[in-house]
Amino acid sequence: MAIGAGPRKTGGVSQTGYGAGTIARMHSALPGRVPLIVDVDTGIDDSLALLYAVASDEAELLAVTCSAGNVDARQVAENTRAVLELAGRPDLEVALGREVPLARPLETTPETHGPRGIGYAELPPARMPLSTRHSADLIIEAARARPGEITMVTLAPLTNLAVAVLREPALPRLLRRLVVMGGSYRSPGNTAPTTEWNVYVDPEAARVVFAAFGDPSLPARPLALGLDVTERAKLTPEHLERLAALAGDDAAAPKSPIIRYLVDALRFYMEFHSRYDGFYGAFIHDPLALAASLDPALVRAEALTVEVELGGTFTTGETVTDWRRVWRKAPNVDVAVEADATTFMNRFVERVARLAAARAGVAS
Ligand code: RIB
Ligand code: CA
Repeated sequence: MAIGAGPRKTGGVSQTGYGAGTIARMHSALPGRVPLIVDVDTGIDDSLALLYAVASDEAELLAVTCSAGNVDARQVAENTRAVLELAGRPDLEVALGREVPLARPLETTPETHGPRGIGYAELPPARMPLSTRHSADLIIEAARARPGEITMVTLAPLTNLAVAVLREPALPRLLRRLVVMGGSYRSPGNTAPTTEWNVYVDPEAARVVFAAFGDPSLPARPLALGLDVTERAKLTPEHLERLAALAGDDAAAPKSPIIRYLVDALRFYMEFHSRYDGFYGAFIHDPLALAASLDPALVRAEALTVEVELGGTFTTGETVTDWRRVWRKAPNVDVAVEADATTFMNRFVERVARLAAARAGVAS
């Protein structure tokens, strides 16, 4: 079931909702490990989210599903497996699914993540096998096997989650929660003036997912981290230097495989941000969303009504948000409005450094 401000107790996370316009209370950290399925379009920040998940003791990473977005789906699957091998998790199931958006041609963004999706980084070709299951079937079968336990985290266009919920309408009740990196709820877009990339690539899929997981009869709502909060997660060269040093390495002349990967991938990503966003650093959208799925207390959310624009001349893919509740419709999304970026960045640096140090002596 999706999380949110709905009035219910879930595994120690007590939430008290007050109906429409509710300030979703700060969620307490979830006790124990958190079973996760993560959907990615790896992509540089997706790869950082995967490293963070592997490095986080409280994450029980069950599987990774691949959607097209930053690069085409098959390149996503290659990158995802190569990064998981780098992180020491060649055992994980990685699946492909629908390889193009539901209703429109695929657009990728080589200028942001590089033609292969990992910037200037070079990784050995993936050796771990690709799952024989379709992503949608993997998500459905896993949720049926562990009803009410699994958190679904989407860091990509929502194509495969949409396919899954169309195949299994009960999916929102079978999952424990849904955490989405996507949308821009009162900030400018990063792909068009009012649209964020993950929703822009497949707005029909976003409409399907928001409708299904935001059904007011559900005990709670999905948690959405849009650009409003993810652009506060700014990785700087100083963060990277500190991370490398903590790992016993040197960002200026990296020796360990993970630090070398980070330096080469992030150099491309920081050059992009320097050109388009005016600072030499990187918004690490996906790791913040992943971290919030493990510790919802990192963000504060508001229960709001959100609709995805499909027919706009200039605004298709906009996550239209009813901040003044003029529609008088039940809220369908818990929109993150604040994030503790400092705590998150420190955790990111410390955890990924620990993983890098542990993997330093191991050939990937
Ligand atoms: O808009 C940011 C999102 O789009 C991130 O998930 C990034 O990886 C890209 O997919
Ligand atoms: Ca992504």
